[in-house]
Amino acid sequence: MAKMAASVVETGEDAFKKIFKFYKRRYPPPDFSDVIDFSKCVTTDKIVPVKLNPAAVSDDDAANVGLHPVKGWRAFNLQGYPGFIFITNPFLRGSQPFWIRQCLKSYPQKPNVCNLDMHMSPADTQDIWAKSVTNLSCASVGKREPRTLLERLRWVTLGYHYNWDSKTYSANHYTPFPPELHLLSSQIATACGFADFTAEAGILNYYRSDSSLGIHVDESELDHSRPLLSFSFGQSAIFLLGGTHRRDAPTAMYMHSGDVMVMSGPSRLLYHAVPRVVPARQEVALVESERGGAQGGAILEQVSAEDWAVCCRYIRSSRINVTVRQVLGQGRSFPPAEDETKRKRRRSSDSPKTEET
Ligand code: SIN
Repeated sequence: MAKMAASVVETGEDAFKKIFKFYKRRYPPPDFSDVIDFSKCVTTDKIVPVKLNPAAVSDDDAANVGLHPVKGWRAFNLQGYPGFIFITNPFLRGSQPFWIRQCLKSYPQKPNVCNLDMHMSPADTQDIWAKSVTNLSCASVGKREPRTLLERLRWVTLGYHYNWDSKTYSANHYTPFPPELHLLSSQIATACGFADFTAEAGILNYYRSDSSLGIHVDESELDHSRPLLSFSFGQSAIFLLGGTHRRDAPTAMYMHSGDVMVMSGPSRLLYHAVPRVVPARQEVALVESERGGAQGGAILEQVSAEDWAVCCRYIRSSRINVTVRQVLGQGRSFPPAEDETKRKRRRSSDSPKTEET
């Protein structure tokens, strides 16, 4: 084992990059002992349990989107990161399969936009799921080139579609945001004190075992007083949360299937990244066993055995992350065109795509 992350850098010039490379490195493998695991529920000086308002969301409303009652959530703040909230898997047993199926079967469908649209015709990306299910076989697990469209999926955008080149959203590239994901996001945001949050844009990132996501700040949204929500499914990952400068050394934490993160207040505009996907055999095995378990509420339709078999094959080697954002301030619209040029002059650090080693 190589030495610990803390001793790799002194806080200084691009400390974030050094720690990112430390955790991304394959040989020798890094020492993970500095990585915070909120699921272990250990309270330290740095990890502060937080009580969310149990009355903010009724138990029925929570169950309707597949969440435990708020009073049962285990939520934490992180010392030095005001506005950052980590909720360890608040999903009811039996509800993750629905959300995973949505991420793989429903959200990549038109009119949503995905990476494959950049170099394939609409007809070819019309039904990624149907075109992939037969060939997404057990043999696909491993490090060969992805063959199916589902395995080649890297990102999907929802609602106001993020433009990766101009790093902006615009009024004229919008399709309806999925109502059930809107509802889920509202319940999470409300429990965290943001009752008026409106889910307007979503970015789904699909990670293979060797994928990473570069260092960036999510600042393209026009109202930074609104939180950014993040949902993780499938394999685990190491998430790095830094400061407002690249010289600030980041804190490393695991994100497991079902975990939810809220970046708000002073933590809304912090540098962050995902240097590594880490195997989560036990956690994923648990999720795999969930189909047909106690289901949550009305909007969560039962996932068929055939669909779930495909989802399980996928999450055995991959991770899905969904970030949900409010783009516009309450009651606001997009600024006039001349201001758009200014908005396009974004820092190069804004929302990168996942990349493979
Ligand atoms: C993640 O995959 O956990 C982070 C996604 C993002 O920062 O956009």
